[in-house]
Amino acid sequence: MIIIKSPREIALMREAGRVAALVFEEVGPLVVPGVSTAYLDEQVERVMRKYGAEPAEKGYYGYPASVCASVNEVILHGIPSEKKILRDGDIISLDLVTRKNGYCGDACRTYGVGIIGERQKRMIEIAKECFDNAMALVKPGAHVGDLGHAIETTAKKYGCSVAQQYTGHGIGRDMHEDPYIPCYGTPGTGPILREGMTICVEPMIFEHKNDVRVLKDGWTVVAKDGGLTSHYENTLVVTKDGCEILTKL
Ligand code: MF3
Ligand code: CO
Repeated sequence: MIIIKSPREIALMREAGRVAALVFEEVGPLVVPGVSTAYLDEQVERVMRKYGAEPAEKGYYGYPASVCASVNEVILHGIPSEKKILRDGDIISLDLVTRKNGYCGDACRTYGVGIIGERQKRMIEIAKECFDNAMALVKPGAHVGDLGHAIETTAKKYGCSVAQQYTGHGIGRDMHEDPYIPCYGTPGTGPILREGMTICVEPMIFEHKNDVRVLKDGWTVVAKDGGLTSHYENTLVVTKDGCEILTKL
């Protein structure tokens, strides 16, 4: 069931989203060579709490941290660790969900660590371009398949592939609501977007093949072929004639 949010609920989600954007603003500059992903996790939680939000990922199906910190070939759900030290040339996605006044804001950015190569830079840019091309289609009457198609064709243009088993999603009081928003699709198919729906569009991009493996920790999802991966996400609200990003300042 897809929940249409009232203007009051959208205002609350805008506030949760604003805190997510503040986290990137304050923690992004701390993504430097030599820090551990556990340090970034502490900082994410500190900034969320400073602005009156809670880390919604912590405890979600037992997830142990405030952020998913996924380095290089890790596409999703990298668990922050004291042992994982960032090195010059790495790329890392920080995927986080705030909860404030009962509503969630979910966003992800992929950062370069120190000086990164062209390969790394390209992956970061492709995920953002996939997002932008999908977001451009969001308006009442658009189909979910239109968005997935835009993400997939953009990624393919660069020889990249997209996640199959993991998708974007609706969001609200719950981190994950209907509809699911795949990174692939056929135009004109799938649920139809309506004003007041709140959705997370999140391209998850593989440099090469999209075969994945889940590590023994039960969370960490890696590209089987060891290629680079990138991820970009915002929470959007469908408006009268388009959409608004909620996870922004
Ligand atoms: N933020 C993720 C998403 O985009 C969900 C993280 S799973 C969790 O859907 F277990 F870490 F919460
Ligand atoms: Co997310």
